[in-house]
Amino acid sequence: MKLFRPGRGWQGAISLGGDKSISHRLLLFALQHHGRFIIENISQCDDVKTSLKIFEQAGGRIETLPDKRLCLESPAEISDLRRSEIFCGNSGTTARLLCGILAGLPFSFRLTGDESLSRRPMRRVIEPLEKMGAGFSCNDGRLPLTITGSAKLDPISHNLQVASAQVKSAILLAATRAEGLTTIEEPLQSRNHSEILLRELGAEITADAGRITLRGPFNSAGDFSFKVPGDTSSAAFIVAAATLLPGSKIEINNVLLNPQRIAFLHKLKQMGAQLNWKVESSEFEESGTIHAGFSPDLKAVNIEGHEVPGLIDELPVLAAVMAFAIGTSSVRGAAQLRIKESDRISSICRLLKQIGVAVEELEDGYCITGPAKITKRHTVEPAGDHRIAATMAVMALASEQGMLIANHQCVKISFPEFSDFFQTFSPETFFEAKNDLCW
Ligand code: S3P
Repeated sequence: MKLFRPGRGWQGAISLGGDKSISHRLLLFALQHHGRFIIENISQCDDVKTSLKIFEQAGGRIETLPDKRLCLESPAEISDLRRSEIFCGNSGTTARLLCGILAGLPFSFRLTGDESLSRRPMRRVIEPLEKMGAGFSCNDGRLPLTITGSAKLDPISHNLQVASAQVKSAILLAATRAEGLTTIEEPLQSRNHSEILLRELGAEITADAGRITLRGPFNSAGDFSFKVPGDTSSAAFIVAAATLLPGSKIEINNVLLNPQRIAFLHKLKQMGAQLNWKVESSEFEESGTIHAGFSPDLKAVNIEGHEVPGLIDELPVLAAVMAFAIGTSSVRGAAQLRIKESDRISSICRLLKQIGVAVEELEDGYCITGPAKITKRHTVEPAGDHRIAATMAVMALASEQGMLIANHQCVKISFPEFSDFFQTFSPETFFEAKNDLCW
């Protein structure tokens, strides 16, 4: 339990650890690669550490170079992974992308996960991979699961039922082991980091308005260097805090600005935030600088289903900003939030209600009416969900008495530098509960 005190203006320039989605992909794509990946600024978050451990479990070698870059040397034989259980921790990206890789190997592998991951649906990857020739047995569509791959996968044409970059990536990884053209149609565009990486590695891939094709087989080989831009989804918490705290003025450098990942910035701007960003590099992925400052009189905003894939990981922190905006904001068509690390619709509504924010829960979203005034100190329980815990920390900054957040350490699942930033920006905001209040 930690007490997060109300904050004063956050000022300064920062940069963030590498984007989680891109870091996962580099580690997992390296499993199938022949050669070396030299990676600068890989994420140090717990989820990425899970992918890193699996890379090592498969026999991959990791060396930290004197300049702190990581050198990944791909395993000679990733089938070694069959010798013991593969633990995917809390990470849906690890579990789902890994299924796409293992589908192309003629052995059986057993995947497990923590309690939260073991509740999340896997049928969305199982169905297309079965069509390609892999076999599965699982616990009612959930982990633990056993996948039995095939050395001869078939290419498929697949319409995704929901926009999901994890499912799309799993199919693309399997498609590199299939002979012929695999086509994926997405109902709405999801993040495209796998497409960008595959193109970078030399695959024959096209992506056009929600239709992706890949011609297999594709064997990636050679030595590649990548610089991972700072994590945009983590940046969202810093931007939200700066927006809400009088006197704030922050600059975030070298941050990922891939157009599929910055809908959050566009929405905040629509709400009236003092915010701008500039793409400065398009090498590998687009990246650049964000400037954000205190933004009084934020206006309510509506989010509709077609906007959800671009905002999926930022909706929790956007709910915090909505709570302090003037008027009723709404989020609809976001039922996918219910099957994230927690049921995020229920977590957001439960916690906002608890701290006195006017919120109405809907099946596929919620309505939040602001501006809220959080006058009492509350103790909140973020359900072990990293993005919910970080969202409550942002709300604590903008409250009058701060908040006690139980199990706040789960933030490290995606944002390991989070506590450091809170301490650096406003040291008075962050104390061990035992030094301050005893519970
Ligand atoms: C991710 C895709 C998204 C996102 C998750 C990371 C990825 O999930 O919510 O945090 O790296 O591909 P879905 O694919 O389920 O939409």
